[in-house]
Amino acid sequence: MVRPLFFSPCDWEVAGLVSNYATTRPRRLFHSTLSTHGDHIYEHWIGKNAEESGFSHLIENEYICAQLAAEVGLSVPECRVEQIGERTWFISHYINNEPFTYPKLQNCRNIADIPLLLLFDLWVCNPDRSPSNLLLSPTNNHSGTYEFIVIDHSHALFGETDIIRVLDVNPRLCFDFPALTERIRSNRDWNLALFKLQSLSEQTICEAVNALCDNTFLASDIDLVVGKLAERKDQLPGLLYRAKTLGCFPNWL
Ligand SMILES: Nc1ncnc2c1ncn2[C@@H]1O[C@H](COP(=O)(O)OP(=O)(O)OP(=O)(O)O)[C@@H](O)[C@H]1O
Ligand SMILES: [Mg+2]
Repeated sequence: MVRPLFFSPCDWEVAGLVSNYATTRPRRLFHSTLSTHGDHIYEHWIGKNAEESGFSHLIENEYICAQLAAEVGLSVPECRVEQIGERTWFISHYINNEPFTYPKLQNCRNIADIPLLLLFDLWVCNPDRSPSNLLLSPTNNHSGTYEFIVIDHSHALFGETDIIRVLDVNPRLCFDFPALTERIRSNRDWNLALFKLQSLSEQTICEAVNALCDNTFLASDIDLVVGKLAERKDQLPGLLYRAKTLGCFPNWL
C-alpha cells in the first residue's frame, strides 16, 4: 500500500469503531486518504484519546514508550499524535493480526526479542503486558510465521495520573504473562537485551521524551522523566534480580 507523505487534519476521517472482547473501551478507527489521479488510497489507523480513556497521561505514555521501544529494536506500529476534530489522538497504524496462541508466538521470527520486551516493560514501568497487547502479525511470505508487534503503553511511565509513577513499579506486575516469562532459562537470555537497553544514550531518551513538542510537560518534568529513565536503565540488573527473587521466572533457576 502506498504511504502518504503528508497529512493535514482534514485528511482524517472517522471510519467507525473498533472493539473486541479483550477491551472494554472501544477504539476509533480512522482512515487517512490520499488522492492520486482521482483514486482514493486508504490507510487504517486506530486511535485513543485521554478524555475518553480517562487517563490524563495517555498520549505521553503511549507516544514516548513507542519511540523508545522502536529505538531499542522492538517492533511497534507506526504511531503519531494528531489533532483530529476537537481532540488530540494517539493513533497507530492498523496491523493485520490474528488471535494470540502460544504456538503462533513460538513461530514469531522475532521471538528472540522476548527478554528485550520484558526488560523494556520493567524499564518503563509497564504493568500491562497481556496477550491482547502483543499483536501477532502474519509475515508476508505465507510460511506460517508471525512477527509480534508491541502495543498499548497507556499504563506505563506516568501511570494514569501520577508523574511520580516512573519512580517504581512492582516487577511482578511487569512479568505477569507466563507464556513470556517461562521462556527465560539462563542469564544468557538477558545479556543482549540488557546491552541494547543500556546502550541507549541519555540524548536518545531525551529526544524521545521531547518528541511530542506540544508543551504538555513543563521543562522540569521533562528533566525529571529523562533523569528517571536514565537512572532506572542503570538499575535494570538489580530490578531484574528483584523480579527473579519474587519468583517471576519459573525456569530461570
Ligand atoms: N495498531 C493496531 N493494529 C491493530 N489492532 C490494534 C492496534 N492497536 C490496538 N489494536 C486493537 O485494539 C485493542 C485495544 O487497544 P489497546 O490495547 O491499545 O487499548 P486498551 O487495552 O483497550 O486500553 P487501555 O488504554 O486501557 O490499556 C487491542 O487489543 C487490539 O486488538
Ligand atoms: Mg490493551
